[in-house]
Amino acid sequence: MSQLNTPLLFVFISSFLLFFHSSLSQQNDTVSCPLDFEVLRRLTQGYMSPSGDQCQFILEGLRLVQSDYLKRTDSFLPRVDSAEACWKAYQDLYDQLVPGFDIRKNCGFKTEWISQGCGNITSRVEYEANNSPETLAAVSTACNQSLVNSSPCATCTTSLSSLQPSDPINKTVGNVSDCTAYRSIYAAAFANSFGPDDKGNAECLFSLNFTPVKSSNKQKKAIIVVVVVLGVLVLVLCGSAAWLIRRNKLKKKIRQREITRRWSDLNMNNSALESINGSTTLIRFTFDDIKEATKNFSRFNIIGRGGYGNVYKGVLPDGSEAALKRFKNCSAAGDASFAHEVEVIASVRHVNLVALRGYCTATTNFEGHQRIIVCDLVKNGSLHDHLFGSIGTKLSWPLTERSDVYSFGVVLLELLSGKKALIIKNDAQHTLVADWAWGLVRNGRALEVIEEGLQWTRL
Ligand SMILES: *[C@@H]1O[C@H](CO)[C@@H](O)[C@H](O)[C@H]1NC(C)=O
Ligand SMILES: *[C@@H]1O[C@H](CO)[C@@H](O)[C@H](O)[C@H]1NC(C)=O
Ligand SMILES: *[C@@H]1O[C@H](CO)[C@@H](O)[C@H](O)[C@H]1NC(C)=O
Ligand SMILES: *[C@@H]1O[C@H](CO)[C@@H](O)[C@H](O)[C@H]1NC(C)=O
Ligand SMILES: *[C@@H]1O[C@H](CO)[C@@H](O)[C@H](O)[C@H]1NC(C)=O
Repeated sequence: MSQLNTPLLFVFISSFLLFFHSSLSQQNDTVSCPLDFEVLRRLTQGYMSPSGDQCQFILEGLRLVQSDYLKRTDSFLPRVDSAEACWKAYQDLYDQLVPGFDIRKNCGFKTEWISQGCGNITSRVEYEANNSPETLAAVSTACNQSLVNSSPCATCTTSLSSLQPSDPINKTVGNVSDCTAYRSIYAAAFANSFGPDDKGNAECLFSLNFTPVKSSNKQKKAIIVVVVVLGVLVLVLCGSAAWLIRRNKLKKKIRQREITRRWSDLNMNNSALESINGSTTLIRFTFDDIKEATKNFSRFNIIGRGGYGNVYKGVLPDGSEAALKRFKNCSAAGDASFAHEVEVIASVRHVNLVALRGYCTATTNFEGHQRIIVCDLVKNGSLHDHLFGSIGTKLSWPLTERSDVYSFGVVLLELLSGKKALIIKNDAQHTLVADWAWGLVRNGRALEVIEEGLQWTRL
């Protein structure tokens, strides 16, 4: 008895171990999931899951993936040993859509349900065996078309209701892929030639509504708003630029007319200097005043020399100090344009410009024709002195308004010369008006800057 029992016990124990071992390897979670969740990922790309019932969305998404599996393998369900891997794969995908949502925990899905369905039915053949060929043909006819629109979708889903088995609790194992779910899974896989990854099928057979991701909507709105705002801004800028240009042209015209008027006045009356006295607060000094102020043009009073003549420091009759610029080689014939120059310069007041106080024109027997302009004396020395150190003190003020000064100078030059800031010559060469004027000044022809301009305004 015991001799007989020993090999029996051995067989029993080893078969138990074998069973135990095989059940262990079934638990091996490295078994990969045969379902292809990429299908669902591609469909949901750029879309968001409905904000409504997430568990319903998850369930329908899984059925769509099962339909793809059925189409590829004729099998409705993955093997139970891959259930864990399949949930994991689904969870990974869903984490990309809604981070931190535990599918099984939050929706109450049991792990094995993914491998259980409608009764014993796991394959296409088993399912079709439950239905007559006529029923299957009718379903194919009704569903083999695009289901994007609601009318063909309704035709298809109506025909599906005749598919067996229907959904008695008895026949359903688990509640993920029950017998009613099998109908859609089957129809998307075999009745409709577009397949489960078709958007119309996904919407009609699995109730997956793909609404575009809201943020992309927001981005579009933001882009539209930005474009509209930019458009309006450009319009406003163009409008005001046009208005400014028009206004400037008008002003220029008026100014030109004024200059022309004065010019003809000057010519008619031949009393240019009276005109200056009339229109500005300039003082007309007598030549004796000038001589007295500069101690008869003493060389000790010279504070600057140039091609145009010398600049003298002097004390005016009212006791104030002034700089007096005496022009060389003058003739009475140029008095009119000189008067105009003085008038224009005197009309300009700017913090960075030396104010013009007055002038003197005279013809003497001994010294010939004289032209002198009288300006405020800048006590702190010239910019040259500061920059090149004859005074010793460095500039403490940064040249904050230097560009202002420069552009004002350019405007002044434009005004005096009648040339544009950028002179374009015949041979298409460009010259800055400042360079052009500087060239003349260096050659001792400073007045030509002005006289050319006056001839131009006369035209
Ligand atoms: C799981 O199966 C693989 C082979 O498919 C094997 O290499 C691995 O050791 C198994 N793991 C466990 C825990 O059984
Ligand atoms: C599955 O099929 C077997 C026989 O093939 C049957 O005994 C069992 O009751 C069926 N189970 C269900 C849930 O239909
Ligand atoms: C479930 O099956 C039992 C017999 O196995 C039957 O009496 C019952 O009516 C069935 N229920 C449904 C809903 O079909
Ligand atoms: C599945 O059935 C269980 C009860 O067995 C229920 O609590 C759960 O809500 C059901 N889930 C779905 C998605 O129907
Ligand atoms: C569905 O229609 C296409 C042509 O539109 C056809 O090729 C295909 O065989 C049809 N499929 C079924 C299942 O009737």
